[in-house]
Amino acid sequence: MVHLKIHIIFLFLATFSILFETSNAASINVASFGAKSDGTQDSTKPFLSAWSLACKSNEASTIYVPQGSFLLKQVSFWGPCLNKIDFKIDGTIVAPSKYESLGNSGYWILFMKVNWVSIYGGTFDGKGAGYWRCRKAGRSCPAAARSISFSWSKNVLVSGLTSLNSKAIHIAVDHCKNVVIKDVKIRAPSRSPNTDGINVQFSTGVTISHSTIMTGDDCISINQGTTHVWIDRIACGPGHGISIGSLGSDSNEAGVENVTVTDSVFTKTQNGVRIKSWAKPNNGYARDINFRNLIMQNVYYPIIIDQRYCTKTDCPHQNSGVKISSVSYQHIKGTSASPVAIKFDCSQSNPCLGLKLQDINLIYLKGSKTSSSCRNAGGSTLGLVIPKSCL
Ligand SMILES: *[C@@H]1O[C@H](CO)[C@@H](O)[C@H](O)[C@H]1NC(C)=O
Repeated sequence: MVHLKIHIIFLFLATFSILFETSNAASINVASFGAKSDGTQDSTKPFLSAWSLACKSNEASTIYVPQGSFLLKQVSFWGPCLNKIDFKIDGTIVAPSKYESLGNSGYWILFMKVNWVSIYGGTFDGKGAGYWRCRKAGRSCPAAARSISFSWSKNVLVSGLTSLNSKAIHIAVDHCKNVVIKDVKIRAPSRSPNTDGINVQFSTGVTISHSTIMTGDDCISINQGTTHVWIDRIACGPGHGISIGSLGSDSNEAGVENVTVTDSVFTKTQNGVRIKSWAKPNNGYARDINFRNLIMQNVYYPIIIDQRYCTKTDCPHQNSGVKISSVSYQHIKGTSASPVAIKFDCSQSNPCLGLKLQDINLIYLKGSKTSSSCRNAGGSTLGLVIPKSCL
């Protein structure tokens, strides 16, 4: 009898401890690991401890970041993990303002080889100003640290996040599969160098939706090796617009295929929708690209393909090997800040094929008519197109 009682108690305790452990892992508050919400004490270790517990949990877990301001140094959250992990963030995550302390890795917050990770809410303050000053002064600065990166990951969701003043790219998606980014706000000054909003490369199945991006470089850039991208309801500007490329910087490059940009507004951006490639040989391509239902407000180059892309310091003068084909522009309206509202400057050795212009109405802000300009560009024109199509 006594023996049986002990046995039952033991069973009870065992069950209790299992329940206790799993419920512990199910919701993890970083504060309980010693994260400090004063924005000055380093909370990197507590965040990593919370991650490590969540990552080892058999059950789905939530890492909760309460209100307040949490200082994180360079941090990598590595997978694979045993189950789904959600970050629920009410507070602000701040980077060190001394950029030297992020080292030379090129990352601030990196998620590596994760599967089913979601981030809900939160403000990420990259404290980029000091780094931009270093860049502008032409000093030798450490590698530009992008704010939030997902690499070699699958089934990622970023929802309701705010990213401020990144030192370089705000959100980078690299070698990923099935990524949804929605309801995000991205903000950096229009003169901050290379602060792309969302940069995607080597990824497939990426949706970027209902977001506001005001920054110093491309609002969104889609780079080599990327397929099946859906972008809708973006408010872009200031910034350099939504770009495919720069493509063709490496001679051996993976292409870009099946990208849609729709229902978006560009305000005072350098470009609206742009495809750009370097003027040198390579085997890349961009095809099956759809731009539709877009509004341009005071945009310098609303529609542009630039296959002679270069910078002040790097300007090759060969023909671009990137093959651009099946690109449609439909229902694009608004104002151009330059007289050339449509510019197709394609490669002499690889002309653009299958460009389609349909229902375009772009007028020049400063009164006189807009025009379109074509070089090595072929395709068709449908419906009313203003400026007159050069295809
Ligand atoms: C193109 O990408 C979309 C997602 O944006 C996807 O639904 C569609 O199936 C893809 N089309 C092809 C032909 O793969």
